[in-house]
Amino acid sequence: MRKLLLLVVFATCLIPAYLWHASYGLDTRSAPGSIEAAVARAVRAWSVPRAAKDLGNPMGCTPEVIEEARVHWADHCATCHANNGSGETLLGRTMYPRPPDMRRGPTQRQTDGELYYVIKNGVRLTGMPAFGEPGNEDHSSWHLVCFIRHLPKMTADEEIQMRELNPKTRQDLDEERQEQEFLNGGAVKH
Ligand code: HEC
Repeated sequence: MRKLLLLVVFATCLIPAYLWHASYGLDTRSAPGSIEAAVARAVRAWSVPRAAKDLGNPMGCTPEVIEEARVHWADHCATCHANNGSGETLLGRTMYPRPPDMRRGPTQRQTDGELYYVIKNGVRLTGMPAFGEPGNEDHSSWHLVCFIRHLPKMTADEEIQMRELNPKTRQDLDEERQEQEFLNGGAVKH
């Protein structure tokens, strides 16, 4: 009887999974469907301990704190999340699951403690890395929570300033050098 039950569970779970894999493979081009995204979000919400969710942000979200976090975000987070938190970047658009648009309700409705927990510990089976030191209550992650709260109010000027702070590839640096040489009247090399 037990074996039969196991066989039924195996057939109901693994056969559809196999057929799904055979038809779609494991590529990350398509975005997860709405049911899959909702289930994944719910599973993640359950996995965050209650005590962590209830933690309040010990930092006052002053303009100075938000400014510091904006610089940090531009350097460490914007590659996937974009400067404005939309997730519209080359990496963000092709990851599975996609980074969410953090200006919207599903992110903004989470508690400060929940956002902090994700920044500190990362999210398994997604591209979201863990940024905090284990054990320590790191202030920079709380500052980033302040910045996430600021995302829906961010101005176009702030976004433009952040472009200067985004990590640069060798190609970007070469182009900047060539532009500078051109502006200084020097030779332009291609
Ligand atoms: C390499 C890509 C990558 C980088 C870099 C990255 N993230 Fe993420 N992040 C993700 C992905 C993908 C998700 C979606 C995870 C999921 O579906 O549960 C995510 C989710 C999150 C969430 C949860 C949002 C929500 O609505 O549930 C927070 C908060 C977050 N990231 C903060 C940050 C911060 C702050 C940084 C920089 C210190 C950062 N991330 C850097 C890929 C990244």
